Order: sequence, then C-alpha cells, then structure tokens
Amino acid sequence: MIGRNDPCWCGSQQKWKKCHYPDPGPQTQESLRKEYYKKHQILLKTPEQIDGIRKAGKLAASILEELCAFAKEGVTTAEIDQLSRKLHADAGATAAALNYGSPPFPGSICTSLNEMICHGIPNNVPLKDGDILNIDCASILNGYYGDCSKMVCIGNITQEKQLVVDVAYDSLMKSIEMLKPGVKVSEIGTFIQKYAEGKGCSVVYQFVGHGVGTRFHENPQVSHVRNSLHVPLAPGMTFTIEPMINAGTSEGIIDPENDWEARTADGRPSAQWEHTLLITEEGCEILTPWKR
Ligand code: MF3
Ligand code: CO
Repeated sequence: MIGRNDPCWCGSQQKWKKCHYPDPGPQTQESLRKEYYKKHQILLKTPEQIDGIRKAGKLAASILEELCAFAKEGVTTAEIDQLSRKLHADAGATAAALNYGSPPFPGSICTSLNEMICHGIPNNVPLKDGDILNIDCASILNGYYGDCSKMVCIGNITQEKQLVVDVAYDSLMKSIEMLKPGVKVSEIGTFIQKYAEGKGCSVVYQFVGHGVGTRFHENPQVSHVRNSLHVPLAPGMTFTIEPMINAGTSEGIIDPENDWEARTADGRPSAQWEHTLLITEEGCEILTPWKR
C-alpha cells in the first residue's frame, strides 16, 4: 500500500497526503509487489525473474522427460539419478535436491516407488513389472529454480495403482484450469480434496506445494486439502501444485533410518504429479511443460 509521505501515484511529484489522499490510485505491479511481500511474505516476480524461472522450468521439465523415458524394467533408481546428475552438468545447471535440507538429501532427484508418498532416495533395486514410480526433478539454472514431477508405470499395474496415478494427474491439471488473479490459494486445496475423495482416494496433508523461483521453497504454502490460506492469486506469483493422492489412508510415516522417505501408513499406493506455475494477467502459464 502507498504511504502518506510517498510520492503520489498520479505522477504530480507531490506527497500522496497533499495530492490524491485518501484515494490509493490504481494498483501498480510495484505497489502490489510491496503489499504481497509485507502482508504474506510472497515474492511477486519481475519480468526479468520470470524469464529466468521460465528457463529453469523448461530445463527441469526436459531433464524429467529424459529420466522418465530411461526408467524401464530392470533399471535402478540409482542409475536414473546418475543420468540426472549428468544432464544437469551438461546443461550448466545444478540439481536442487542434492544436499538440500537436513540431513542433506543424498540424491539429485527424488524417486518414490509404489507406497512411497515422496522424497524417495535413489537406490540399487531394479524396477520391476507392476511398479509405479514418481520422479521429482528440481533444477537451478542461473540462480533460478524450476520444480516438477511425473509418474512412470512399469509394465502392467493394478487397478488401484492406475486409479491413484489418474486421480493425481487430474487433481493437478483440473486445479490448474481454475487459476487466475483473484482466485484464493485455499481454493486449490478445496477443489483437490473434493475431487480426489469423490474418486475414493485420500489426499496427503503432511506435504504441500510451495512458492518457488528465486529459492527452492518460498511462500505461499499450497496445501492440497481444505485450508484457510485465503490469499488471492496475483500476477507474478510462481508456485508449485504437487498433489499426493493415496488409495487408502492419507497418513504418511517418515522413515527414521533416513529422515526423508515418506510411505503410506497402510502400505497402499500413492501417486504425485507436479508443475511449476506462473499467474499471469489472464490466467496461468505452466513453466515446466512436460507431457503425460
Ligand atoms: N518437489 C519436492 C518438494 O518440493 C522436491 C523435494 S526435493 C528434496 O519438496 F530434496 F527436498 F527432497
Ligand atoms: Co516441489
């Protein structure tokens, strides 16, 4: 918001209090940026930052596509991780997951198999017929971040696995369709919970989508269930939606052996898809353009 002693928005070079006060004038992108940071600690990105995030998102999506094409029966997730490290190095980029957090995440990607909800650590177990695998790839390019994930199905999968894969995909893509300035962040979770539960699935509440772009995890937190974050979307917001959809209970348990891997409490399957998104004047742009 404009302050009493700030220059008036009309360009008169007088103080606002001596000029158009109390009319705050048309919201400029600059004043909106200040307001969003002050009120919500949300960074609305400048055109230059958006350009950088778009490039990082495009790279993350293209690496993710290569990793998914490589993920076949007999291949290990450690081998997929090795390919990810090579593709990041070849592009002059860094994998955001590697050494992230505490304890430092040991992989360059997350590889979450079957009942694993998220944050799976790549290992030496070969993929086998009937597996569903989430590959989550976040890339840093010239200081900007893109974050995305997809599911890969190995051979023939059960109906229950197919259901979570499809419901997670539709939860993501249908929630993206509603995005435009003025829609509240909370509407995303309201929609996804209603949609997924309507299909007989449950929605993970312990992990959320997030602002992303100039850092890996920024505000806002984007919950995929009903919540009270009634902040209106605004042009220049960049964030992820990454619903984790379970066949059985929504409860997840974090592996005490590594403090990262989250599995469903009942061992039933879980699926997730993720995009990095930009709110535009008209609606929304997908910054991580992968194909299903
Ligand atoms: N998309 C996931 C997230 O935002 C990626 C996690 S990478 C990890 O949490 F290093 F944090 F595991
Ligand atoms: Co993410």
